Amino acid sequence: MVQPPVFADAYVLKDHDTPLVVPDMSDFPTEPLDWQTVAAARRACRVGAAVVYEPSMGSTNERARSLLRHGGADGTVVVTDDQTSGRGRLGRTWTVAPRSALTVSIALRLPASFPLQIMTPAAALAVDTIVSAEVGPRCAIKWPNDVLIDGLKVAGILVELDEAAGWHAVVGIGLNVNATPPYPHATSLAAATGRRFERHVLLIALLDAFEETLVGAERDPAQALRRWRSRLCTLGRRVRAHTPAGTIEGVAIDVDENGALLLRYDDGTVRPLLAGEVSLAPDPAGPP
Ligand code: BTN
Repeated sequence: MVQPPVFADAYVLKDHDTPLVVPDMSDFPTEPLDWQTVAAARRACRVGAAVVYEPSMGSTNERARSLLRHGGADGTVVVTDDQTSGRGRLGRTWTVAPRSALTVSIALRLPASFPLQIMTPAAALAVDTIVSAEVGPRCAIKWPNDVLIDGLKVAGILVELDEAAGWHAVVGIGLNVNATPPYPHATSLAAATGRRFERHVLLIALLDAFEETLVGAERDPAQALRRWRSRLCTLGRRVRAHTPAGTIEGVAIDVDENGALLLRYDDGTVRPLLAGEVSLAPDPAGPP
């Protein structure tokens, strides 16, 4: 039995069997992902030297995990146009219209000494980099790794770990590109900008940003955490956190060296929150 990790927001795997709710996007014009151009652009890189594409698959995270178990190379990228059993954080599902989004997983083989606490921040920073390039300061990260535009979620990240010789890490990224899932608080790059995007161009930029962030974070984990901290819109806010153990409320005052959110409760105590879904309370100084 693998013990829960002691760093923020990475999950040891369990069964995900919640039924899917498939949004009706039947009139949305689509083309398949140009994955061959992605593979050609990344051939000489660590992240994306191998690209596994299928028009449809259950979960790219599950496929990446299985590839790692069966000898798949470090840096293998798994991507699909139609993810039928996508999984999200906290045992949720992740559902997007076929060919509208990026649903991608990066499979990594990491030494036991790897600073795992930077994996979630590195992924969030990579997504933040490419989204910010399109929308500028409207983009921010909500602890730990939701990427927001104007406060609405445009991307989610699910890091899953298996203890192997060292670690197998799967970094799963779902980015809403040309369609917005019909969920409250969701947006897409298209909705935020009024433009359509070539998904392969975004994917190349995303893999590039992730590799750069990963390499930098391996070299200097504390610096990567500082960079991630500076992009968090959660700090200084009163938040409500839905955790596996129930709902708690407090002021998010900082993050610690593991990436955990430090919450100050109303009784004045400060405790770290390692995983959970955080909602921001309205800013009392903001507009009504
Ligand atoms: C979240 O709940 O915010 C995280 C969502 C992560 C979704 C991505 S889509 C690609 C990868 N494969 C999965 O099954 N999940 C992740």
